[in-house]
Order: sequence, then C-alpha cells, then structure tokens
Amino acid sequence: MQDIFPHGETQVLNTDYKKLRMIDKIKNLSGEIEALKATTEKEIEELRIKYLSKKGEISQLFGEFRNVPNEMKREVGQLLNELKNSATDKINSLKGSMQAEASSGNDMDLTLPASPIKLGSRHPLSVVKNEIIDIFTRLGFTISEGPEVEDDWHVFSALNFPEEHPARDMQDTFFIEKNPDILLRTHTSSVQVRVMENEQPPIRTISPGRVFRNEAISARAHCIFHQVEGLYIDENVSFADLKQTLLYFAQEMFGKETQIRLRPSFFPFTEPSAEMDVTCNLCGGKGCNVCKYTGWLEILGCGMVDPNVLKSNNIDSEKYTGFAFGMGVERIAMLKFGVNDLRLFFENDVRFLDQFKAAY
Ligand code: DAH
Repeated sequence: MQDIFPHGETQVLNTDYKKLRMIDKIKNLSGEIEALKATTEKEIEELRIKYLSKKGEISQLFGEFRNVPNEMKREVGQLLNELKNSATDKINSLKGSMQAEASSGNDMDLTLPASPIKLGSRHPLSVVKNEIIDIFTRLGFTISEGPEVEDDWHVFSALNFPEEHPARDMQDTFFIEKNPDILLRTHTSSVQVRVMENEQPPIRTISPGRVFRNEAISARAHCIFHQVEGLYIDENVSFADLKQTLLYFAQEMFGKETQIRLRPSFFPFTEPSAEMDVTCNLCGGKGCNVCKYTGWLEILGCGMVDPNVLKSNNIDSEKYTGFAFGMGVERIAMLKFGVNDLRLFFENDVRFLDQFKAAY
C-alpha cells in the first residue's frame, strides 16, 4: 500500500491523536470530579481511592503520560497537574463541608437556657396613677376624661376665676389662641366642669390627666405634668366626708400609720379651701431633709365646691353640696419612691426606669 504520508505525516497524525486523547480524558475526568458528591466519610474515601490512589484514574493517566510525544509533554503535563490539584481540592472540600455539618450538629446544646428577653416595665408615673385610680374606684369613684386643649370657660371661668382676677396668674398658661382664648389646660379641674355639664348629682368621679404650665423646668417643676382631680357632689356632702376620704387615700397610698393635716388655703373653685399634708413617709414624721425637718409633706389641694361653681354648671346649689381635690402624680411618685428630681420621670433613662420593675 502506498504510503500516503511519504514525509512522515503519519507520525504527526499519531502525535496529535495521542495528545487529543489525553486531553479529552483529562477534560472528561475533570468534569466528572467537579460534579462529585458524597455525604459520608466512607464515600469520600472511596472517591479518593478511585481518583487519587496509586492505582487511581489520575495516576493511570500519569502512567500514560510517558507515551505523550516530547513536544506535547509541557502542555499535557500542565493539564494533568491541574487535574490532580483540582481533584485533591475537591476531596478536601467534601471532607470540610462534611465536618462542618457534623460539628454544627454537635454544638447544639438543647439543655442550655435561652438568653433572657429584656422585659419592659410600667413607667413609675403610670404605676402611681393606676394606684390612685385603684384606691378611688374602691370608694365608688368613676373615671372621667377631658381634652388637653381647652377653652377659657372650662379651665377658668366656670371654676369661678373672675376675668382679670389675679388668681389666673397662679397658673402660668400656654395660650394657643386669644379672643376667644384657646389654651392648654393648666389643671384637670376643667374635667369637673365637663362632668357637671353632662351629669346631675350624685357625681363621684376622678379625672387623671396631663396638664401644662409655662414654668421653668427644674428638679421640682416641669411644664408638663400629671394630675388627678376628684369631685363628689350629692346631698349633704360635708367637709368631714372630704377629710375621711382623703385620710383613707393617704393611708392606702403611703401606709396605714400615715396621718394627715389640713391647712387653710385659697382656690377660687372651693370654699373653704385647704391644702393637705401627710406625715413624711421617709422619717415617719420625725423630720428629715425631704420634709425640711417639719415631719409633713404637702400632697394636694382640696375644699368644698364653691356654690358659684355649682350654679355656673346648672346644679342646684341649695340642694347639693360637694367636695373636690386635686393632686400631682409626679409629687406623689417622688414621695413614694424617694425620687429627688422630677425631671428623671421624663428622661426615659432605662437605668432609672428599670428600678421600678422589681416592686411592680
Ligand atoms: N386645680 C388645683 C391646681 O392645679 C388643684 C386643686 C385644688 C384642685 C383644690 C381641686 C381643689 O379640685 O379643690 O393647683
């Protein structure tokens, strides 16, 4: 047969063919290895033996490498080395992910207690307000509310503050509009008026709420604070009823041994008017720097509802009498918890608020 490649082309063809076979094999193997999956140690070891052991497929290819013509050795050798490296990497990564999975399972200790969830607590002012409400609802008082933005009538005029009367200056008012005056209520006594507008006696109600005064903020005063107003109107309500109700309140709030005293005072809406002190709950009445060594602490204003107020609100002042009182929630909370700066209640510092958790 005539040699169709008289100048040695057969040799060239052979060389290319061998090279191509090797390259195909390498490519096939590398695709196969890339797609390997194993989940147990045994499976991984089997794969290692299949590809990387002395008799493994890659070693066999290295054996065949001897037959690769010299001029191709460089290229094929490089591919073979890459194949070996990527197979080693693959086996290692299979081992790694299996170990990671196994150890993540082992780390889980189901008997460990859960990390604590930080619970919030009621604000001390809410605690005290709720306690005041509890005490008076036990005595049959209902709860009534009114708006914070009020008119002159409900805050002043209906409560017997004559126009231009200096008593209006007792409370520095935030006005929103003038003529007619719209303002932020300076006391919750305004809710008394709203109740009387809508109900006839017997009335027995308390009105907790926020009030506003144009005052400089200090340890003892704030421009926003809270009050609870009380109102009791019926036939034959007397000052003795007022006194006994307030004594009950003081002893429930500050302890059974607490005593009260009433000092004459002035409010336009009550006649007679008084301010009430309780025995200092810190020193038990002996005298300390909180009670300024008097043994007494002032906690509220009160009195018999002025007949003018009843008349302004269409309640028969010949038939009915009543008493009223008003107290500051911050003041009571300060005394009850021994807090010496009112501003702390408004800063919402968790370190402060947390301290009221244990007790309530
Ligand atoms: N409204 C008064 C104030 O804010 C407190 C007060 C005093 C209310 C006497 C009353 C009362 O009902 O009878 O200073």
